[in-house]
Amino acid sequence: MVKKEAFGEFEKYTISNDGILVSVTTLGATLTDVCFKGKNRVLSYGSPEEYLARKSYLCAIIGRYANRIENAEFKLNGELLKVTPNENGNQLHGGPDAFDRREWKAEILDDNAVKFELFSPDGDNGYPGNLTATVIYSIFKDGFRITFEAESDKDTLFAPTTHAYWQIDGSDVRDDVLTFDSEKYLPVDERLIPTGAELETADAFDFRSPKKVGGFFDHCFLLREGSDRKTVPALTLTGRDVTMELFTDFPAVQMYTGPIDGFDDYAGLALEPEVVPNSPNMPGYESPVLKKGEKYSKFVEYRFK
Ligand code: BGC
Repeated sequence: MVKKEAFGEFEKYTISNDGILVSVTTLGATLTDVCFKGKNRVLSYGSPEEYLARKSYLCAIIGRYANRIENAEFKLNGELLKVTPNENGNQLHGGPDAFDRREWKAEILDDNAVKFELFSPDGDNGYPGNLTATVIYSIFKDGFRITFEAESDKDTLFAPTTHAYWQIDGSDVRDDVLTFDSEKYLPVDERLIPTGAELETADAFDFRSPKKVGGFFDHCFLLREGSDRKTVPALTLTGRDVTMELFTDFPAVQMYTGPIDGFDDYAGLALEPEVVPNSPNMPGYESPVLKKGEKYSKFVEYRFK
């Protein structure tokens, strides 16, 4: 069933069945609740004002481009394009006033699904093309799926993510047990831009077998190529009373342990399925280019046990 209520000036939609409850607000198409076994498993703030005042993109949809673009510039069809910088001359998470701060339009699709739609005009944060993005949150028995779709009237970039912070145990996320279907990660420079190297997931970065998160991370893990992403989880996160499996057709996942504005250290774990950071300037990785008229589609699915 779907329940609609006010969330300050915005709306909040709660989709639930016997196993799972998911709430999403029209502010940023942000996840505020993922309740499994009666506990919220994501971090949330109490009001839209707090979401707007805080700086951690808490559980919002990130767009048009998730993560960083070096010097906020890239070449598209041979032309150098500048987008709006918002961090040390780079662009982070789509620019200063991006999808996470916008009011999305909601539509109830059925008892199990709500669609959120955002129109992003030509030139928005420097990006070409009138773009319509939709994000569908749909639930099923003991899980939910986020489907990203978009279309633009000019060639542009589109590479969103969900910035959910998981607190599956309600305690220090360094104690959560993680398994990652990843054999490589991207080292970064002091501006958190990938250096261009790929490193084997060894030592602290090796989650090929279940292991405690252990410490600080703000790194992109490349998902193993060749795994069937509909049946093999990209990662599994286990707390005392729950296991979450994440499935996705994005090629990588950024793992970020905080700091998180408004919370204690290590209160949540962001696991952001996405293309690799700075990919507009990194040939050889999945391209974030969305061609005019092309239909964009990606998914992220969570299953709880
Ligand atoms: C990035 C971090 C950044 C954080 C902001 C994450 O996706 O990887 O570098 O500080 O978002 O909330």
